[in-house]
Amino acid sequence: MTVVTLGVHIVDVLTRPVESIPAGQDTVLVDQIRLTAAGSAAGTAVDLARLGVEVISLGAIGDDELGDFLVAVMTRHGVDVSGLVRRSTDQTSASILPIRPDGGRPSFHVPGANLTVVPADVDEDLLARADVVHLGGPDVTFALNDPAFFAMLAAARAAGTIVTMDLLSNMPDLVQATTAFLPYVDYFLPNEEQALAMTGETDPERAAHALRAYGPKAVLVTLGAEGSLIATEQGTVALAALKIDVVDTTGCGDAYCAGFITGLVHGKEVAEAARWATAAAATVAQGLGSDACLTDLETTLALLRA
Ligand SMILES: Nc1ncnc2c1ncn2[C@@H]1O[C@H](COP(=O)(O)OP(=O)(O)OP(=O)(O)O)[C@@H](O)[C@H]1O
Ligand SMILES: [Mg+2]
Repeated sequence: MTVVTLGVHIVDVLTRPVESIPAGQDTVLVDQIRLTAAGSAAGTAVDLARLGVEVISLGAIGDDELGDFLVAVMTRHGVDVSGLVRRSTDQTSASILPIRPDGGRPSFHVPGANLTVVPADVDEDLLARADVVHLGGPDVTFALNDPAFFAMLAAARAAGTIVTMDLLSNMPDLVQATTAFLPYVDYFLPNEEQALAMTGETDPERAAHALRAYGPKAVLVTLGAEGSLIATEQGTVALAALKIDVVDTTGCGDAYCAGFITGLVHGKEVAEAARWATAAAATVAQGLGSDACLTDLETTLALLRA
């Protein structure tokens, strides 16, 4: 069973706790600083590897130290990085996240090489051989919004590949354009803000069904601490988040996708795969960074029985 994550690769630099930017040249001591491989493709790939799924990640990074870091850390976690392309013209995408004591996460971000991904970077055969292709952030890798890439997705689906999709940004123009991908997507997993921005709806359930009308079998809208809702042809099911002590919710959406895809790969129905998603997301929320506390599938699923 192989999963391809295709899209956004980011180095996250995180620190906690941060209440404000220090005045002048002041130094403030913090509890923790971490560097992680993050973003809707790289972060999800690392989480999938932790959950025991074989994963290949495709996208563009810079020919720089941050790119070297991404390659090293993803490889260390067991992700196949042979399909990453390196650009000399653009830096590796990165974010700096000062995490507030309540888990809030403002950020500074450079999109960098993620904006350079084009259909020619994608190995069409790899998509067709994969069990699942996860489009991680096509709002940012917007050059994939192209008939040549849609033909690759159509061919992969005809060969039996399941296509999942998540977004990165909350910029209305970028997220609205991603409706073009939906006819080629089986499961779409946006957060509430993205679902509302894509549809102009004010209610996430209505937004989920409006998005489903473009083609996906199910749309799973994540609602932060409120959990998620699953919209299918049969109607809508609400799924509560697990009650945990939150440290940092960075990457919870990516972990949700990784848990869901792991469920699919294990042959689970949508509702059960969404429970696995909730467990993976709750695990990651208990530490700093998008892969925090995620060790293996068994430990993650034990949260559901706790
Ligand atoms: N405070 C919390 N407590 C428990 N679970 C949480 C909490 N916040 C998020 N989650 C879990 O994580 C899932 C995804 O969270 P959220 O809706 O914040 O994703 P997101 O905004 O896409 O995040 P990302 O930045 O990773 O893209 C939720 O559906 C929920 O299951
Ligand atoms: Mg998200």
